[in-house]
Amino acid sequence: MNKDVLDILVVGGGGREHAIIRNLKESSRCGKLYCTPGNGGISRDAECFDVKADDISGVAALAKQIKADLVFVAPDDPLVAGMVDTLEKEGIAAFGPNADAAIIEGSKVFSKRLMKKHNIPTADYEVFDNPSEALSYIRRRGRYPAVIKADGLALGKGVILCEDYVEAKAAIKSIMQDRIFGASGKRVVVEEFLTGPEVSVLAFTDGKTIYPMASAKDHKRVFDGDMGPNTGGMGTISPNPHYDEKTAEYCMQNIFKPTIEAMRKEGRPFKGCLFFGLMLTPDGPKVIEYNCRFGDPETQVVLPRLKTDLIEIISAIRDERLHEISVEWTDDACACVVMASGGYPGEYRKGLKIKGLDKNGQLKGAMIFHAGTRYNEGEFFTNGGRVLGVTAKAPSLDKALARAYDSVAKISFADAHYRRDIGKGFYLK
Ligand code: AMP
Ligand code: GLY
Repeated sequence: MNKDVLDILVVGGGGREHAIIRNLKESSRCGKLYCTPGNGGISRDAECFDVKADDISGVAALAKQIKADLVFVAPDDPLVAGMVDTLEKEGIAAFGPNADAAIIEGSKVFSKRLMKKHNIPTADYEVFDNPSEALSYIRRRGRYPAVIKADGLALGKGVILCEDYVEAKAAIKSIMQDRIFGASGKRVVVEEFLTGPEVSVLAFTDGKTIYPMASAKDHKRVFDGDMGPNTGGMGTISPNPHYDEKTAEYCMQNIFKPTIEAMRKEGRPFKGCLFFGLMLTPDGPKVIEYNCRFGDPETQVVLPRLKTDLIEIISAIRDERLHEISVEWTDDACACVVMASGGYPGEYRKGLKIKGLDKNGQLKGAMIFHAGTRYNEGEFFTNGGRVLGVTAKAPSLDKALARAYDSVAKISFADAHYRRDIGKGFYLK
């Protein structure tokens, strides 16, 4: 990492990774850019390989083969499984937390206990490894909705909100007995239901210093008006209008700093991007979840607002001298509208031709971050549930949204579905 210009391998293949790659590409310190597995749009910006994002030894071998100076590990699975540890052991510089620290996302039981022990505001909870004990607790408590969470990673779907005892019984059965999330369901957290607007705050940290990034708001449900099932995220805006300076200061003192101090005290210093999923409850901001990585699609609206060179920040984090630099943001607003395959998050078709993009998969006036696309001889085809993150930056949120939706109107593929109310209406109350 002492080199000035770095050849970088990004691990992952979604919209988040495309946004990271587009940002790195702007840096004067960026040399060759590689991505594995990448996607159709990413292949126009970086050389892509077919090693899977969770193939630890495969990624290590690839990094050596292409002589990458830095490997940027973006997704949760490889981070929790220890990809950064393996890369470092093999002498390859990597960006992302070690497994010891990534557990903050990898185990909800770990993160809840960490918060309780270090007085970090979060929902009250109990942990169970026995289904009948979990159920008798829920019945005794008698308060609904009951929030039931699988302990481990579950593709963002491990949280079930239950309106009554019958639903809770079904949820406990499917998580703990049917193991719909596999071994992640060995233990569950049952917690208090919180209310209030949600805010996503990503933060750069070297384990000692923490710099929160510009705030964001995700829209998780598939349909307008926050209806339908949860998805990976149907759109984002930054900044989050609910997150004012007073709230930010409260979170800094009561949540962000205490979290990195707690991790250090536990002997698990966190170096990388730590993501705070917050709820602004009537009793103040509380942590809903931690993620050990950049969010998707939060990254798509946050990184375009970053003024400071990302490679400088990564170097400072790796050398534990983040306090020596400052991280600056533009005053612009940014909006991302996700165009998804019809049927997502359920069954959907693949291989449909996408119209309206130029030969690089872009469109003038917007930033098109590809998620589920494939490239073939100058054309792009759908290849996943979330297909494109159509993103625009402007001096105001209204303008950014108008620009993003103008671009959405120019892009088409069969069965395309997107929300028409990103950043609008009662979400901003
Ligand atoms: P998570 O995967 O932990 O982000 O949870 C998914 C979604 O479930 C969150 O974005 C919230 O909307 C909701 N959720 C999680 N925990 C709670 C809670 N304690 N109270 C209310 N809603 C929750
Ligand atoms: N958008 C939420 C996540 O990345 O988990």
